[in-house]
Amino acid sequence: MTSTEQGRHKYDQLADKYEEIFPYVADVGRLLVDHARPAAGARVLDVGAGRGAVARAALAAGCDVTAVDASAGMVARMAMDFPDIVARQMDAGGLDFPDGSFDLVTAGFVMQVLPDPDVALAEFRRVLAPGGTLALSLEKQTVGRLRWLFELAGEFFGVPVPGDDEESSGAMTSRRLNALIEQAGFTDLATDSVEMPVPLAGPEALWDWLRPRGLTDAVGRLPAEQAEQFHIRFLAGAEHMRTAGGISLDFRATLHVASRP
Ligand SMILES: C[S@@+](CC[C@H](N)C(=O)[O-])C[C@H]1O[C@@H](n2cnc3c(N)ncnc32)[C@H](O)[C@@H]1O
Repeated sequence: MTSTEQGRHKYDQLADKYEEIFPYVADVGRLLVDHARPAAGARVLDVGAGRGAVARAALAAGCDVTAVDASAGMVARMAMDFPDIVARQMDAGGLDFPDGSFDLVTAGFVMQVLPDPDVALAEFRRVLAPGGTLALSLEKQTVGRLRWLFELAGEFFGVPVPGDDEESSGAMTSRRLNALIEQAGFTDLATDSVEMPVPLAGPEALWDWLRPRGLTDAVGRLPAEQAEQFHIRFLAGAEHMRTAGGISLDFRATLHVASRP
């Protein structure tokens, strides 16, 4: 399987539970459309639409919405849930629409999963009409008070512990995304931040929150004794976090809005 096929397969598997696992995407989708301020009747293309977090906000704003995604599972689910949205399976790097077809192109939490974000941005610019708007959101990776958990995961699963300096990580950051947006020829770029704390009651609640988000799979690959050790150390670390100010996951995102000259 190529990395593109693996990515597609991952999202096909996630389609039916995606918004239950990541409930904040709906709020960010609404905020992104608020920031882009499309007129009623505007032609909107939502790329990497997933279950339609951004697309349905545009629909609610009275827009004429087309939504595309590389995952057939996501497209099927979106088409079933929102019959008023034109849903098509398509790659962000090769949009099957004529030049200047849309007034607003959106992509919520997509730029960081694309192998060639610059190719996608050139496509977004091409399908936008002159004077059109681009609106993107990007999750901001933060370690913060969860450093103990990243270190524990590093020890048991061999994954690198991210540094606090996002820019040195090589990941897509808001600064890198802004540079790409400008290189693609967009103007009037504005960036805004969104913070959504997810408070959790205690160590078990943190365990339950993380289980569908990859923890069950990762722990399932450990030998039984190590899995038990991990669980014990996890609960101890989470209890320490609880007594040292509470368990809250600080979900952060940036919104990037620009114009196509
Ligand atoms: C993190 S999800 C975001 C979904 C949605 N926009 C939201 O805000 O909830 C990323 C989405 O991008 C899609 N995707 C990944 N690579 C893609 C590509 N090359 N072209 C189009 N969509 C892609 C995935 O299938 C997935 O639905």
